[in-house]
Amino acid sequence: MKKKVILALGSLLPNEMHKLGGHFDVVRLWAEPDPEATLQQHKDNIVAILSSYNGLQVTRRIIESLPNLSLVAQFGAGIDNIDLNALRDRDILLSNTPDILTNDTADIAMILTLNVMRRAVEADMYLRVGKWNSGAFPLSTSLTNKTMGIVGMGRIGQAIAKRASAFDMKVVYHGPREKQNAPYQYYADLVQMAEACDVLMLACVGGDDTRHIVNARVLKALGARGYVVNIARGSVIKTDDLLVALSNRSIAGVGLDVYDNEPNVPEALLNMDQVVLLPHIGSATMETRTQMGELVIDNIVAHFEGRPLLTPFQL
Ligand code: 8YV
Repeated sequence: MKKKVILALGSLLPNEMHKLGGHFDVVRLWAEPDPEATLQQHKDNIVAILSSYNGLQVTRRIIESLPNLSLVAQFGAGIDNIDLNALRDRDILLSNTPDILTNDTADIAMILTLNVMRRAVEADMYLRVGKWNSGAFPLSTSLTNKTMGIVGMGRIGQAIAKRASAFDMKVVYHGPREKQNAPYQYYADLVQMAEACDVLMLACVGGDDTRHIVNARVLKALGARGYVVNIARGSVIKTDDLLVALSNRSIAGVGLDVYDNEPNVPEALLNMDQVVLLPHIGSATMETRTQMGELVIDNIVAHFEGRPLLTPFQL
C-alpha cells in the first residue's frame, strides 16, 4: 500500500527521522532546492506536517495549500511558529511535546542564572587567558536569599521555582492569573514584581500575548542590581530596550537562551561582559530530543490509526 506523505518543515534527530520514514513518506521541504515546486508536486498527498520552532514557519499559505492536511505535529512545547487561526479555520489538529523537556529547560534556566550572577563563564575565560597570575577574579553576586520573579508559572516555571528554592532563593511569580496550588507570592503587575525581585526569569509562552512585555519600564523597575534570564522566546523582551539598559548599566546583566531572529544574535550583545549567551539549548539533550521525537511519531501514528492524540494541543 502507498504510504501517506508527511511534510517535514523541521527535523527530528536522524534516528527518529529514519523511524518516521518507516511509517510514512517524508518530504523534507527545507532540503529541497525548489521548495515551491516540491510543495506543488506533493500537495494533494500530504496529510500531516512535522514542524519545529527552528524549522520553516507553519504559515497560513502552507496550511491552505494542502487540501488533505489533518494534523500538525510539533517537535517542541511552544507553538508560536504556527498560524493557529489557519488551523482552527480548517479544524486541523495540533500535537506538541510538553513535559518531556521541562527539567532540561529548567536546568538551563539555572545554568544561566548561576553563570550570569556568579560570572562562571567569564571566570573560566579569565583563567584560560592567564589573567589569574596577575590577580584574583572580581567578586560576583550570591544567589542565596535573593528573589527570583518568574514570569509564567507553568510546568517549566514550576520546575525552575523548585530549583531556585533549592538554591535558597525566594520565589515570586507573575502571569495572567494566580495559580491555585503555587506556594509562591503572586504579582498581577509585572512592573511591581520587577521592583521586588533580583532575577527576572522569563518562562512564559511566546506569541502575541507576551510580545515585548519586558520593556524599558520593567527593566527600570528591576534596577541596576537586577538580572534578566530568558528561556522563553526572544519576542518576550523588547530587545532595543534591553540593549539600552545593558549599555547604560541600568540592569546588572542578562542570560539568554532565546532571541528575536534565531540564529542571529545582536552584535552588541556579543561584546558585553555582563551577558551570558546560549544558542537555544533548553531542550537540547540526547535523552530529551530523542523522547520528543518518539512522541511526535507516536502522535502521528495514533492519529492515522484513528486513535486520539497522546498530547493534543487544544486550539
Ligand atoms: C525547540 C523549544 O522546539 O519546545 C520548545 O518550545 O523551543 C525547543 O524545544 C527545539 O529547539 C526544536 O526547535
